[in-house]
Amino acid sequence: MSEHSEIYDRSVAILKLNDKGSYTVPTHGLYPFQWNWDSCLTALGFSHFDEQRAWLEIETLFAHQWEDGMVPHIVFHELDDGYFPGPDVWNTRRVVPTSGITQPPVAGFAVKRLFDRSENREQIADRVKALVKSIDRWHQWFFDCRDPQGEGLVALIHPWESGRDNSIDWDKPFVNVPTDGVQPYTRRDTQHANPAHRPTKDQYDRYLWLVEHFRSLDWDNSILHDNSPFRIVDPGFNAILLRSCAELALLAEELDEPEIAHRNSRWAKRGINALEKLWSSEHSQYVCWDRVAEEQINSASIGGILAVFAPLSQERVTAIVSRLKTIAANSKYLVASHDPTDNRFDSKRYWRGPVWLIVNYMIIDGLQQAGQHQMAASIEHDSQALIAESGFAEYYDPVSAEGCGGDSFTWTAAMMLEFISS
Ligand code: DGY
Repeated sequence: MSEHSEIYDRSVAILKLNDKGSYTVPTHGLYPFQWNWDSCLTALGFSHFDEQRAWLEIETLFAHQWEDGMVPHIVFHELDDGYFPGPDVWNTRRVVPTSGITQPPVAGFAVKRLFDRSENREQIADRVKALVKSIDRWHQWFFDCRDPQGEGLVALIHPWESGRDNSIDWDKPFVNVPTDGVQPYTRRDTQHANPAHRPTKDQYDRYLWLVEHFRSLDWDNSILHDNSPFRIVDPGFNAILLRSCAELALLAEELDEPEIAHRNSRWAKRGINALEKLWSSEHSQYVCWDRVAEEQINSASIGGILAVFAPLSQERVTAIVSRLKTIAANSKYLVASHDPTDNRFDSKRYWRGPVWLIVNYMIIDGLQQAGQHQMAASIEHDSQALIAESGFAEYYDPVSAEGCGGDSFTWTAAMMLEFISS
């Protein structure tokens, strides 16, 4: 496809519209700050027309890495009371305020891909090396603070960390999260997006309870995991971490950082083996593990399919492809974020059914790596069809193709650039 096709130009225009100079907002209004995994995936989009801007996006994020190694999920670069909860609620007491939790660690994957694509490798090698060291510190933080028993997999302590805020996966474990004592608040998200597409008030109360609880523990990551009533091992989140470890290992090798390479390659291998505990023969996919109840969560969500982003065995990949065929038979556009035959499925409500193109992109990439080109092509076809039908939405109804949530959405445009330019 020509670089100057109409869809290419529209995608570039959205990235420019949401560009704040050194970081990008996911969309104006609903999300007016820098989000962690949004930025890393957005950098891939920038790389098709402005490589330097792509690197800057990720460097800006890592400039706000915490001293303990965590990279926060939001950086509040400018005040904007159109979003809740803002810096005063998090109160992490940083010079540039940030949230106190993290997000799917896709940076290792993104940085490796950007470097592979670069036409200026020699000139940028030192900048990339600095990023490799920061990403390695983040990975180390995950295994230290979110895997205290050394199982090889890390736990989320807040649904916002997964990116899949209101997934059906959290319904059962969320019962352990109380709502008493939460400070009165006014939601702002429902003023920017259709409330029927967003999480419920009951879920928000629990999100806020967790934030206030962690704040009362002074955001001390050495104790948050063990003191959280919500500790979930999500296969999708872990697959992103493990793929990033594997990619960072390769990049570190290329940049002559053997210790980083060795460490990350070891984490990747150990984690892939540990993922077996999350395999569900009943659903022919991975499912979440509840580290509080010590049991699998019976919920066939996209998290267990996104696991294919990690380098899995052929046996597991083949089973996931057959699972994808079942999902395709029950919804028009791949890949619904929850099993469409489950009576809890909701085609428009955020992560309880809608299709998200960033997740499609990672599933496609994992399938391609495993040689499953036909299914990868079907998902890419559906992804582009959704944009053709409904523009650059935040997410889409997998049955009707309706665009949901925010619009002129940065990462959707970035993924389109990836699809049409690769
Ligand atoms: C939100 O505010 O909807 C976000 O998903 C939290 O990061």
